[in-house]
Amino acid sequence: MAILEIARLGNPVLRQQAQPVDLNELTRPGSELQQLIDDMIETMRDANGAGLAAPQVSRSLQIVVYECEGNERYPDRPTIPLTVLVNPRLSELSEETVMGWEGCLSLDDFRGKVARSRTLRLDGFDREGQAVSILAEGFESVVIQHETDHLIGKVFLDRMTDLTQLSYVKEFETFWVADDTVEV
Ligand code: NI
Repeated sequence: MAILEIARLGNPVLRQQAQPVDLNELTRPGSELQQLIDDMIETMRDANGAGLAAPQVSRSLQIVVYECEGNERYPDRPTIPLTVLVNPRLSELSEETVMGWEGCLSLDDFRGKVARSRTLRLDGFDREGQAVSILAEGFESVVIQHETDHLIGKVFLDRMTDLTQLSYVKEFETFWVADDTVEV
């Protein structure tokens, strides 16, 4: 396992449409993609992130990992077990939204307020190439939308409707963290 370098905003890889993963290659014994997934998990944990998408480690592939367990950055968030998703497709995104402050390992000094669908359905594959379906809500729904956005070249800034609320982390903690609209 290895900790990979995280691509930061300005790196064109973050703005590309990620390629679908070939499931035969994913499940081939000794596949380099399994190593990549292990490295993504280690990199996410090392950076105390709640999620990581392959383009963030400069691989333009449709792979995301996420986990929320004893995370220093999100001590009050619900626990989400480690999840690896390959070629995810979202559907049934609710019109009902939740507003929340998001950060991103590729924009690691910023927080921004984004509206996301409260619930969604995800269909994709796990790291063994088995089909999976997830009905997510709340924080997990937000994490999934944030991470799958990375697969279509989007970052949370693109989803903000009011850029006047973009904050550095330090100012966020000083001026905004007590805002009771913070939900996710
Ligand atoms: Ni991100």
